[in-house]
Amino acid sequence: MAKTILILGACGQIGTELTLALRDLHGSESVVASDIREGDAGLMDSGPFEILDATNADAMEEVVVHYGVDEIYLMAAMLSATAEKFPDRAWNLNMNTLFNVLKLAKEKKISRVFWPSSIAVFGSTTPKENTPQATVMEPSTVYGISKQSGERWCAYYHRKFGVDVRSLRYPGLISWKTQPGGGTTDYAVEIFHEALRSGSYTCFLGPNTRLPMMYMDDAIRATIELMRADGDSLGVRSSYNLNAMSFSPAELAGAIRREIPSFEIAYEPDFRQDIADSWPSSIDDSQARSDWGWRPEYDLEKTTSAMLRELRALQG
Ligand code: SER
Repeated sequence: MAKTILILGACGQIGTELTLALRDLHGSESVVASDIREGDAGLMDSGPFEILDATNADAMEEVVVHYGVDEIYLMAAMLSATAEKFPDRAWNLNMNTLFNVLKLAKEKKISRVFWPSSIAVFGSTTPKENTPQATVMEPSTVYGISKQSGERWCAYYHRKFGVDVRSLRYPGLISWKTQPGGGTTDYAVEIFHEALRSGSYTCFLGPNTRLPMMYMDDAIRATIELMRADGDSLGVRSSYNLNAMSFSPAELAGAIRREIPSFEIAYEPDFRQDIADSWPSSIDDSQARSDWGWRPEYDLEKTTSAMLRELRALQG
């Protein structure tokens, strides 16, 4: 029997594209999308959808039993900038949803879990360049603390109860189908929309703030490849470092200017600057490469062309 997959947070930036990609791979009926709100038509019309609050364990179990779900991708989360404003809600959402899913796996009601972590698990005492897989981790944000704790719980549930949980530390993700919301790396998406709409952008990070970034196609492929990998080859059950490229706002503006020479950027750093300053500039993902063969495809130039092409096509 084909396996049934449940996506929690399917209407978000990653969830939208992950749902569509998994439906292409496994067939629409095998992939149940869920969120606390409805998403765009492309997602809603392409297969089963449930309104589901992932903090509600009973409601989640009902959906799992009803559809015979055996794999869950938990994409519901509050990102770094919003979490600084609502620490209690962020902790509640980011942790309780994870416990709900890990518990279902511990009780063998599902067989495999994907849970996203982030570069936010690192802090200002972490080596900033080529940040290793295992290193000092003293996150200073609410979001980072929740992801760091989540990683420890994933490793614990794997070791103690044999739960097959897999995870990636996503860098900032750049996508055109669905915008991110409430993250520190969101500028790298907003800038493309503004470049096409008004020809200029005021960035909330300073010009030289280099952060690890990834085009969404690479992130989706990484997620699916990790979930299909042989479990015995996975030496990391907390979360894998994942790398594609690093750039600063000034470097991204330069790449956009190669296609839109009149594009202008200004800088007005806000509270998100401190968050960005506490994160790595570049990531060493050699363990992901050796354990399950990870290779990124999109660099800054390829990402910039793809974003401008896709957003122009959307505008018609
Ligand atoms: N992109 C996320 C954020 O900025 C990091 O995981 O919050």
